[in-house]
Amino acid sequence: MRPSSSHGPTRRSVTFGGVGLLATLRSRSALSVPPAPREVTLVATRGRVSLIGAPHPDTDVWCFNDSVPGPEIRVRRGERLRVLVENRLDEEMTVHWHGVRVPNSMDGVPHLTQVPIAPGKSFSYEFECPDAGTFWYHPHQRSHEQVGRGLYGALIVEEERPLAVDREVTWVLDDWRLLNDASISADFGNLHDVSHAGRIGNTATVNGKVPNEFAVRAGERIRLRLINAANARIFGLAFEGHEPLVVAIDGQPVEPHPQTGRIVLGPAMRMDLVVDMVGKPGEKFRVVDSFYKDLGYRLIDLAYADAALRETTPEPFEGPLENRLPEPDISAARRHEVVLGGGMMGRMTSAVVGGHQLDIRTMMHNGLAWAINGVAATGHMHDPLLTCERDQSYVLNIMNDTAWPHPMHLHGHSFRVIARNGQSTEFREWQDTVLIPARESTDIAFVADNPGDWMFHCHILEHQLGGMMGVVRVA
Ligand code: C2O
Ligand code: CU
Repeated sequence: MRPSSSHGPTRRSVTFGGVGLLATLRSRSALSVPPAPREVTLVATRGRVSLIGAPHPDTDVWCFNDSVPGPEIRVRRGERLRVLVENRLDEEMTVHWHGVRVPNSMDGVPHLTQVPIAPGKSFSYEFECPDAGTFWYHPHQRSHEQVGRGLYGALIVEEERPLAVDREVTWVLDDWRLLNDASISADFGNLHDVSHAGRIGNTATVNGKVPNEFAVRAGERIRLRLINAANARIFGLAFEGHEPLVVAIDGQPVEPHPQTGRIVLGPAMRMDLVVDMVGKPGEKFRVVDSFYKDLGYRLIDLAYADAALRETTPEPFEGPLENRLPEPDISAARRHEVVLGGGMMGRMTSAVVGGHQLDIRTMMHNGLAWAINGVAATGHMHDPLLTCERDQSYVLNIMNDTAWPHPMHLHGHSFRVIARNGQSTEFREWQDTVLIPARESTDIAFVADNPGDWMFHCHILEHQLGGMMGVVRVA
């Protein structure tokens, strides 16, 4: 596995060796002049990378800056980021900054927020990163194929005071559908994937490689940033012999709590874990993905070095993470129902497509299988499914009336997940993508404080393609 520290334009070391975990950071002098934006160039291009490793052949991919994932972009909270995106693909594209609360014009949604970047052209994105945490970037034009072929990367916004850990590691997870010669199966967006679970592949990678071992040391404390960049695969990870502490979800801090059971990560979701390496020198532990019944596999091994980093176990972890998000006023919130329908084994018989009611068979002939509130989307431009008054609090009760789980993503905002099937959640997590199991409902709450037209869609990219997409307007 390629350590993420080997690339990235602005990576600074967060490795503290020696005695104490709470090593003092070099203090940063307060600047009186606003600093120049951090500048990054992303070139979207065809590339060739080794996903599986020798002796297997390399794989033709589409990628940023010749690597999968693209460079890990790192900025500090509140810093301005300027990214020049050059499109050297043969088709239009845009880049979306998933989970970052950017101004609407920088959100990277084709036609809705910008003219797509034509082949050979470039576009400069510039925005402030208001929240510290783990985010990512990916195209939003034909994303089922562009992301599926390898166009994505991590966007890490650092806290002023990073967590007291020995090492910080990013794992960008992906899932590929490869043929025997290690090439990518070209059957993107086929109707079977669209109407079932999406494009589930056959090869999982961590940071663009089929992983084998991840080297750790006894006594070490690691902040592990997980990002699910897969089109459709939901990961359900268990760290055998270890008890990771969840400290953030979708970039936003959560009350640190041990994860009992699997760590479930739907497409586009992120989770920050603090993992104490409680094994002994020379030991090996499996990290297993067992989300899909009977399809479990070993993702990677935690391989302990022969020498311990320290003998004593570190102090209990205290997570001083925080972001400043507008708190929804639940008692004054306006409530709306959102119903997800369609798909195989669903009960939806028809939906509105471009103003016409079509039966599900006709929809399927047109590559559509899903709807939100009875409307199946054919592109990014729509009449809003909901128009919000600015700075007003909203609660959306999202009912998944289908036989499949859906990771629903709202652009431009983070929301609290306040209830599942009518029961209040324990942690009222801030998320930007919430996985809603089949036939279940989830209540999310947010303040509509970011004006513009924002996508609200399923992040199983084949479901998005198949109509599960809409617009929430903040006027
Ligand atoms: Cu990660 Cu609308 O996207
Ligand atoms: Cu879906």
